[in-house]
Amino acid sequence: MLTALMLLAVPAIVPLPRSLTVLPGTYALPQHVAVRAASAAERNVAAFTERFLRKRGIAVRIVREGAPAQIRLNGAAKDGALGAEGYHLRVDSSGIEIDANGGPGLFYGLQTLEQLVPASGAPAIRDIDIRDVPAFAWRGIHLDVSRHFFPVSVVERYINVAAHYKLNVFHWHLTDDQGWRIQIQRYPRLTSVGACRSGSEVDHDPALSDGIRYCGYYTQDQIRQVVAYAARRYVTVVPEIEMPGHSAAAIAAYPYLGCTGKQIPVSVSWGGSDAICPTPRAIRFEENVLSEIMQLFPSKYIHTGGDEVLFGQWKRSAFVTALMKRKHLQTYPQVQGYFERRIERFIRSKGRIMVGWDEILNGGVSRSAVVMSWRGTAGGARAARRGNDTVMSPDGPLYLSWGQGDPADEPPASCCVDTPQMVYAFNPIPPGLTPQQAKHIIGVQGNMWTEWVPTASHLFYMLLPRELALAEDAWTPEYEKNWSSFEARTGPQYLWLEAHGYNFRIPNPSFTIDAPQLSFAGVSPSVRTIQAYTRGPDVTVTLTDDVPGAAIHYTLDGSTPSARSLVYGAPLRYALKPNETVDVTAVAVLPDGRVSTPSELLLARR
Ligand code: ACM
Repeated sequence: MLTALMLLAVPAIVPLPRSLTVLPGTYALPQHVAVRAASAAERNVAAFTERFLRKRGIAVRIVREGAPAQIRLNGAAKDGALGAEGYHLRVDSSGIEIDANGGPGLFYGLQTLEQLVPASGAPAIRDIDIRDVPAFAWRGIHLDVSRHFFPVSVVERYINVAAHYKLNVFHWHLTDDQGWRIQIQRYPRLTSVGACRSGSEVDHDPALSDGIRYCGYYTQDQIRQVVAYAARRYVTVVPEIEMPGHSAAAIAAYPYLGCTGKQIPVSVSWGGSDAICPTPRAIRFEENVLSEIMQLFPSKYIHTGGDEVLFGQWKRSAFVTALMKRKHLQTYPQVQGYFERRIERFIRSKGRIMVGWDEILNGGVSRSAVVMSWRGTAGGARAARRGNDTVMSPDGPLYLSWGQGDPADEPPASCCVDTPQMVYAFNPIPPGLTPQQAKHIIGVQGNMWTEWVPTASHLFYMLLPRELALAEDAWTPEYEKNWSSFEARTGPQYLWLEAHGYNFRIPNPSFTIDAPQLSFAGVSPSVRTIQAYTRGPDVTVTLTDDVPGAAIHYTLDGSTPSARSLVYGAPLRYALKPNETVDVTAVAVLPDGRVSTPSELLLARR
């Protein structure tokens, strides 16, 4: 258990490093710094070091092997314990040294160093020794660009913040019913037809469209640009081309892909639509698309969807009926299995590995496919028992498209409530697996479905700060995780996010209730309200907010506070009469005027 004093002593690093020793002393970076870098990886990380220090007004010179330097990057540490991504960062009177077995570890050491340098004032760093390795190899963040399209500049910013928090996979959901978003040379109609829909769903009503034509796609040059941008930050871009379901945009472009052969529109409502028909011609189409995809994306992993296939048209198809007879397939999930195995065999023949949502298990897929568990964790556990590698990205805790607070206070979201604390509480290893089975859980991923995320500003609002909790799920072993410690280390991260221009959800203030006779405290009746009871009169209520520089304002009549409401300065002390209730509603207000959603405390003496 970490005490409050220990929490203060842990430097504000997210995700929490594996081992860390604060040493006596402080190292002050001079105004002119030499960075030692020789290999390509060292020079790549030196360029990021230079960019970071320049922003702090420090002039940087890159020097070669052997030359004296204040910052020494060594990407050939030959230290087995650090693995492919770990690093050893040491700051002492001799300067700063980062040792790693290659570029990723150096880059992560630099991200940690950035978090150790105070956000403002003199760039002095506490002397420290950190040895750090990640818990999971796949630390992913997903982005759906079909429901809403985001330009390259936004995608790069999305990757940049992920990399700063040591995530290393960007899962790019490029196609769906509502839009095909990547240029494919061989099939130009995928973008000339499939990249536009006639409107977008409004008010969670599939029958309602705003009637505004909506288009967007990435050229292959833009794709290459993003892949290179990510690679410099040691982020692998895993493309997803959805099949056989969620394929209305493809069928709209090439109607022969559907079992009816009829023209259909690119979907307007957010629901699922027709599936690709498992004909030889349609499978050849998918293989040709995947061939271009594999030329664009060097990733070992290629995601082909597989979720939520609607079998309606397969059931009415003479072709599918004959196929089932010929291949002895009893059920439609088995027909999907036939399709998935064909696609997987093709991907494997190119030396890559297929990834699919957990439905790919239903029809039987080979052991070499990676299963992404989204319908909770059961699919992932089943995959791990079966011997398939699996990535945990369950709806609920890791669906960052869900709302982050009381739905009454939040913008429309795809579903439900998923607070940062709920993201943080997720344990990637489900109970009941043997150690050998647990090894198949290769990682963790947060998913961002964008049906209700129309703008970049809203995208980052949904992402942050929950991505930081995700990063700690992925990097830090479960036994080292501690919410209070995480909260304390998260505060300064807001300064980094602000300095880099990222919008984020301002956490609403937290209450600490100090009452000797407190009998109950819980969240009720809504996410925003804490209801508590005390038997005695004495109560002290402390309000805190994680964002440095935030002012807390409050009301005492249940009304929503504004920047003009009472300013919180010191703990609120009460001597309650029998049956008296205090009702404190608080918001955090940032120096730029942005206001958090409210939190409310209803505390009654009973
Ligand atoms: C999914 O959320 N349908 C993977």
